[in-house]
Order: sequence, then structure tokens, then C-alpha cells
Amino acid sequence: MASKLWEKNFEVNQEIEKFTVGRDRELDLFLAKHDVLGSMAHITMLQSIGLLEKEELTALLAELKNIHAEIEAGRFVIEEGVEDVHSQVELMLTRKLGDMGKKIHSGRSRNDQVLVDLKLFTRQQLMEIAEEVRVLFDELIAQSNRYKDVLMPGYTHLQVAMPSSFGLWFGAYAESLVDDMLFLQAAFKMTNRNPLGSAAGYGSSFPLNRTMTTELLGFDSMNYNVVYAQMGRGKMERNVTFALAGLAGTLSKLAFDACMFNSQNFGFVKLPNECTTGSSIMPHKKNPDVFELTRAKCNKLQALPQQIVLIMNNLPCGYFRDLQIIKEVFIPAFQEIKDCLQMVAYIINKIQVNEHILDDPKYDNMFSVEEVNRLAAAGMPFRDAYKKVGLDIEAGTFTPDKHVAHTHEGSIGNLCNDRIVALMDQVWSGFNFSRMQEAEKKLLAAE
Ligand code: ARG
Repeated sequence: MASKLWEKNFEVNQEIEKFTVGRDRELDLFLAKHDVLGSMAHITMLQSIGLLEKEELTALLAELKNIHAEIEAGRFVIEEGVEDVHSQVELMLTRKLGDMGKKIHSGRSRNDQVLVDLKLFTRQQLMEIAEEVRVLFDELIAQSNRYKDVLMPGYTHLQVAMPSSFGLWFGAYAESLVDDMLFLQAAFKMTNRNPLGSAAGYGSSFPLNRTMTTELLGFDSMNYNVVYAQMGRGKMERNVTFALAGLAGTLSKLAFDACMFNSQNFGFVKLPNECTTGSSIMPHKKNPDVFELTRAKCNKLQALPQQIVLIMNNLPCGYFRDLQIIKEVFIPAFQEIKDCLQMVAYIINKIQVNEHILDDPKYDNMFSVEEVNRLAAAGMPFRDAYKKVGLDIEAGTFTPDKHVAHTHEGSIGNLCNDRIVALMDQVWSGFNFSRMQEAEKKLLAAE
């Protein structure tokens, strides 16, 4: 058994080790490059307060950069017997640089490292997700504008109700994404605060310069109170997954609509052939599996906040190993939602719309309210007009005028897509990704 960072003079039972390490060797790989960046910032700060010599810092930074390159090349592994990414990086430094490698941990704890790693990882993921959301948003707006004049039935109780349009349908999901983006941004802003320096959760007797590490890592600010910085573990993940769940809710609803509208019984849209799957027995099948999987994955993602709440529920302040388990549900969620976003954007771009839905007389009654309104506008009291149209429908004498003239904001004839885009632009301008990206690039270039 390899040695542990915390090993003293007794050996740990192998089963206990297996149980406590759990899935860290696999999940911590997602944190590896962020762990290296966190260490680069930490040791740069340690040198500035006299805890490392300049030459030591230079050697350590060079070696950390090598490790970073290994990670980027996909060659980094957490070795058998090594507990986690933090131990692995320190082990590699110590192997190369001896005692120098052992100095970097002054004034910090692994609790502190995992906190900062998770923040750096998450802000990067949220940036990528925000970008994918923007792509999908743009596709939806483009389709809404393109098909703004194509009518379709609107439903209540899944009963044919009122005229709707593809302009409304696509645009509705675009506007939904604006609100999801707002939530993502709140999650991003909470994430983008530096916890490093909380050490084991109570600070350190070394005169750490937390302002310096905050700037080096390109955080917007720090989590000031060291106890709060530690308490952010779990809370950050919960808040972020609430934002992901909001987005997942939009995607699963869209996916359900698309599956339903693609069915022969509706026939409103047709998915691109390459996005459907066949059946092993029925030669005619073109199934909307992509949307079905999106729906299921996104429904699953909506359970994430609850899972995290339950894992951390009733923990008092201070670190507990319970928090390690959050990584198991949290870390994989990002790739899942990014996959769904990409699939949905691809299909929305290529989806075919049926421009002749309303030729089918089964949708005629959706124009009933149009007729009632026309009569009312011509002076007949609304209740009388309602009754007349109702009786005509019952008698089979109702002939719809399929011309619709909806003019108010957000209606079929006045989608306000330009204003929806302006709303999205406004939210988008509240992100500042370049600050974090530039800081990370600069840190990696430091000598
Ligand atoms: N793998 C641990 C986690 O995710 C890292 C921190 C270990 N700290 C400790 N006190 N055991 O929480």
C-alpha cells in the first residue's frame, strides 16, 4: 500500500481504504487541472509571504505546468494506493523535487483544495453550458422567425383549443431559455468566489494573502468568512443543480412536445431522418429516441438538487466526508446536459414543419373563439356571440374563417422575437467569462 499524506505509524485496513476512497480516483480526474491551477496560485502567494524561496517557486511552477500538460494530454492518472487528486499531484511534485514538493501544502488543507477545485471546474462547465444554451436559443429564434406565419393547433387538456403557430411554439422555448440563463448566471456568480485560504475551514496562522489568490485565479471576489467558505461545499453544488434543473425542465418539455408532434397522429413536425432510430421488427419505424432520451435524462437531472439536499441535509458547519459523495451525482451532470443541449440544437435546426396541418377539418373548431370575437367586435354581446357559435358547432353549420389577426405583444401576429433576443442579450452581458479565462491563461504562463 502506498503511503497517505496523513499517514503516521499505523496501516489502514484495505477494505476501509477502498470504502473511504470510493469513486474519488475516477471523479477527481475531472478536477485535476483545476487542482494544479489552484496549487499554482497558492504557491505564488506562499512565495510572496516568504514561505517559499523564489527558486523553489520557479521549480514548482515549472513542474506543475508539466503536470498540467500531462492532464491535458490525457495521460494523468491517480495511481493505485493514492487517495485522491490532491495526493497525486503532491506525490508527483515530491518525486520530482523532493522536499520542495512537501512545502506547498503550508497554510491549506485538502478540504480547501477540493473547494477551490470544484469552483474552478464548475465555473468552466457553467460557461460551456451557457454557450450551448445560447446556440440553442439562436436556433429556436431563427425557426420561430422562419415559420412565424405557419399556424398549428394550440391545446388545453390536450384538446384542440385555439390557433397557435410555429412562431409561437419555437419562440416560447427560446424565451424559456432566457429565464433559465438568468438562473445559470446567478449560479455562476455564486460559484465565481474564491474559497481558497479557508484551509480546514477555519483559516490559518500564516498571513495568507487571499486577495492575491483571488486575483490570480480570476475570481470575482472571495468567500470572505472562512467558515462560510467551507460551508459553501454542497451549497454551491445545490444551487448550481437548481439552475441545471431549470434548464433541464425546459429541455424535457420541448422533447416531449417534439415526440408528440412527430407522431403520425399529430404529424406536425418531422425529425431529420438521421436523428431517428429504427426497429428490429417493424421495417417502417423512425423513432424519436433522441428526444426520448433527452426527456429522460433531463427528468433525471431535475432530481439532482433533491439528491444533493438529502446528502448534505442536517450537516452542521465544518467539513464532513459526506460531502465527497456529492461529487458522484454532481460531476457527471454537466456532460449529460451539454449532450442534451447539443442534440436538441442540432435537431431544431433541421426539423421539418408541416405547413398544411389546418387543411384537416378536425382542427376547424379551434377557430371558434376567433368567430365569437368577430361577432362581438361587430356589436353582438360576447355571451350571445359565444352561444351562437356554440349552437352552430353543435348543428354542424360552423364554417371557420381561418384567417387570424392577433396583434398584441407576444401573440401570433406580433411575436416580439426582437425583444426576446434583447432580453437574452441583456442577461448574456452580465457574464464575464474573459476575466476568468485570462487569469487562468496568465497563471499557466507564469514562470
Ligand atoms: N476526497 C475528499 C472530499 O472529496 C477530499 C477531502 C479530504 N479531506 C478529509 N478531511 N478527509 O471531500
